Order: sequence, then structure tokens, then C-alpha cells
Amino acid sequence: MDRGEALFTAKFTELDGAGRKMATQAIIPTKRKRPPDTLFQRIAGMDANACSSCHREPVTGGAGDFTVNVFVNEGFVNADFDTVDPQFSNERNTNHLMGAGLVELLAREMSADLQAIRRDALRKARDTGEAVTADLVTKGVHFGKVTAQPDGILDLRQIDGVDTDLVIRPFSQKGVMTSLRQFAINAMNQHHGMQATERFGARWTGETDFDEDGHADELTEGDISALVAWQATLPPPIAETPDDPAWREAAARGSAHFDTIGCNACHLRALPLESLAFADPGPFDAAGTLRGGEADAVTYDLALTDWADTLERNADGDYLIPTFGDLKRHVITDRQVAALGNELLGQRFVERNEFQTSELWGVASTSPYGHRGDFTTLDGVIRAHGGDARASRDAYLDLAEDERSALIAFLKTLVIPQ
Ligand code: HEC
Ligand code: HEC
Repeated sequence: MDRGEALFTAKFTELDGAGRKMATQAIIPTKRKRPPDTLFQRIAGMDANACSSCHREPVTGGAGDFTVNVFVNEGFVNADFDTVDPQFSNERNTNHLMGAGLVELLAREMSADLQAIRRDALRKARDTGEAVTADLVTKGVHFGKVTAQPDGILDLRQIDGVDTDLVIRPFSQKGVMTSLRQFAINAMNQHHGMQATERFGARWTGETDFDEDGHADELTEGDISALVAWQATLPPPIAETPDDPAWREAAARGSAHFDTIGCNACHLRALPLESLAFADPGPFDAAGTLRGGEADAVTYDLALTDWADTLERNADGDYLIPTFGDLKRHVITDRQVAALGNELLGQRFVERNEFQTSELWGVASTSPYGHRGDFTTLDGVIRAHGGDARASRDAYLDLAEDERSALIAFLKTLVIPQ
């Protein structure tokens, strides 16, 4: 954890291997044709000196404001774009990493559940000789249906809010990144030109200095593990009880409205987690990120952290993780309410107007709001909910002004402690 924090806050220098003269930000190792004019460039990157230059509010590992937005491009259009024109990249605001280990554990359990449902449907179809349609439900979240034919063919058309491989990808606001390990490797290359051996090294590229900056094997498997260890053990945000009686009373009313107008259909108050055992490397990564089975996994027992006893448990002994999210993607725009539909590039072939529900824990500490940081107030981003959230947003607008304020007063209790 200490080594991970040091790597997260280090301002990398050219002596460490910062810079990727001959490599792009692409997730799949990709060479440039010629070196760029400048190594640093706020748009296509390298765009920062340290992870903590963006993830810093109100604590290291937190969020950032509009000045530290990132232009996510993954290298598939033009790696060296020098314009903020949305044709070339999707602009995203920095979200926080507090409680990220718990979020990844929830996603792993949910992926395992969904894949077990698919497996059972296939087995039943084979055994009975008839098509079987199964509901994809895990932890109370519905991901549509899957139909299995007796010959083993699957109909994937009714799957909803998750990739067709039924792996929940809890990271990035699009919900397309699987693990802290994968994200750390991507981010180190994109932001700092620090390349992890497990992706850019000799095994996959045949080279030890893929970015040709004179530094071989810039980040070892152990360095990436350290970054994972630190991020996975960051304490989760909390729900604070305000000292001011008027605020307390308003927050209680607002909390009730949150449920009655349907905010909690997507922003679930808590998701049950069976186990706090965090294995690294994890079970669901793709090639280019070290996977369980390719190395001896280390297991961190998050129950040993100094924050674990703040988690409530249900009658089954599950830990209740108060993320206020569902780890599902939803359509968030419609014809009338379209402000969040501002991206032109479909990241990883996910519809452009679908985003994963934001976890609202910590939301009082992480303005601005929305995936691009376009909204300076909570009221503003709630009003911008269209599509699947339209009815709930309209119900919010139908509340009297005092009651809308009460809802905001409730959201303002969800803080990242300093
Ligand atoms: C220039 C600013 C910037 C820097 C530097 C930066 N990040 Fe981020 N980070 C972001 C933004 C913006 C997002 C949201 C990306 C998205 O939604 O597509 C993000 C998202 C993440 C996430 C996913 C969080 C979630 O819940 O979705 C992780 C994990 C992460 N960053 C880790 C890192 C690590 C590790 C480093 C250093 C190697 C790093 N970041 C450096 C801006 C930055
Ligand atoms: C259909 C699912 C759905 C419902 C219902 C819903 N939301 Fe959301 N919410 C989302 C998604 C998806 C996002 C991410 C939008 C984006 O940034 O593109 C989001 C984002 C937010 C954010 C911004 C968080 C941040 O850090 O930027 C807030 C605040 C929020 N929702 C509050 C609410 C409230 C209050 C309600 C009830 C009036 C509500 N939501 C109803 C899906 C939903």
C-alpha cells in the first residue's frame, strides 16, 4: 500500500521513463510513425506528471475539477489530435477512487452470478431439448435476459446494460474498464508514458523499451500490484449526519424523496457483498493485464482495513456497500433532455448516450458533475437526466422547490471524509 501511494503521488521524471516518444496512448501497444513535437500535451497526452495531479479532491485518490478533464481517445482515430473537437476524443471529468476495491469486488461477484445464470440456462436447454430463457438478475439489478438453445447457441439480443460476455466493467463512467489493475496500466501509459512490462514488455511486443525512450521495463508487475493494493484499500465515502438541525431535518425528508421519485431504481442505496477477499490479479481481465492463473494471486482481506467495521451487514452476513449505484449502463438522453448526449465517439462500441450509473457516495465532495463535468450544481445534473431516468427526473421537477432543496440537502451528506 505504501509503495502504491508513492507511485500514485510521484511526479514521474524522464529518468524514471516518463514519456512515450514512439508509442501512443492506445490500450493495445501501438507505435507512432514519428516522434511528436512536444512530449507533453494537455489533450492527447502525456497530460500530467502524477496520478494525484487529477485525483486529489478533497484527498489524494479523490476527484478533480474541469481543469483536469481527460480527452479519452484510446488511439483509434488519430493518436496525436491537438484539438478538443469532440470528433477526436470523449472529454471526461475525473471521478474519485474512494472505496474502489469494494466496487471491483461487487463487480466480480455480479459477473460470476450472471455467468452462472448463463451456464445453468445452457445446461437446462441441453438436458430438456428445449429453449430456455433466463432472467439475468444479480444483487437485485436486472440485466435483461438470455435465451439458450439446446444446441448451445445463445440469443444475446435482450441483454441490457452490460457487455454480452456478462462481465461487469465497473470503471470509467462508460463502464468499460474491468479492474484497477487494467486501469492503472492504461493510465500510466496515457498520462505519464510509463509503460508496464505486463502489457508493453517482451512477451507481447518483443521489445523491452516499446516507447523507445531509453528505459527498459519501466513498471514491473510488482509496481502495478502496489498501485492496485493502495487503490483497493482506499476507505469508502461516508454518509455524514449534519450538526445543523434544519439541515438534518431537510436531509431526512430528501432521503425519503430519493426513494419515492425513483432515484433509487438506479442509484441503489447499497449492494450486498459476500466476501471482502480481494485477489490480485483478478479473475476477469483480458490479455495485456496480468490475470489470475498467470501469476500467483495475492489476496488482500479488506476486513483487516481500519474502515471495514464501518460497513453494515445484513441478516445473511453480507456487507452492505452504500455506493448508490447499480454498476449498470442506462440510456441517459432522449429527444427533449439531451445535454448528457454530447459524445461523438462510441467508446468500445457502447451506445453514445449510455453511461454507467454514477456511484453517488462521496458526491458532495466531487463537483462538478456529469461525465464531462458540465454541471456546477447537483440540481443541474439531476435536471439533465433523460432517457431511462426521465420519469424520475420529471418527478423531481414536480416537487415543490423546498422539497427539491431537501433532496439536495440529503445528497450533500454523502461526503469523502478529509
Ligand atoms: C489528467 C488527469 C488524470 C490523471 C493524471 C489520472 N487520472 Fe485517473 N481518471 C481521470 C479521469 C478523467 C477519469 C474518468 C475516466 C472516464 O470516465 O472515462 C479517471 C478514472 C480513473 C479510474 C476509474 C474510476 C472509476 O470509478 O471509474 C481509475 C481506477 C483511475 N482513474 C486511476 C488512475 C491512476 C492509477 C492514475 C495514475 C497512473 C490516474 N488515474 C491518473 C483523470 C486522471
Ligand atoms: C435510469 C437510471 C437513473 C435514475 C432513475 C437516476 N439516475 Fe442519476 N445517474 C444515472 C446515470 C447513468 C448517471 C451518469 C450520467 C452521466 O454522467 O452521463 C447519473 C448521474 C447522477 C448524478 C451525477 C453524479 C456525478 O458525480 O457527476 C447525480 C447527482 C444523480 N445522478 C442523481 C440522481 C437523482 C437525485 C435521481 C432521482 C431524481 C437520479 N439520479 C435518477 C442514472 C440514473
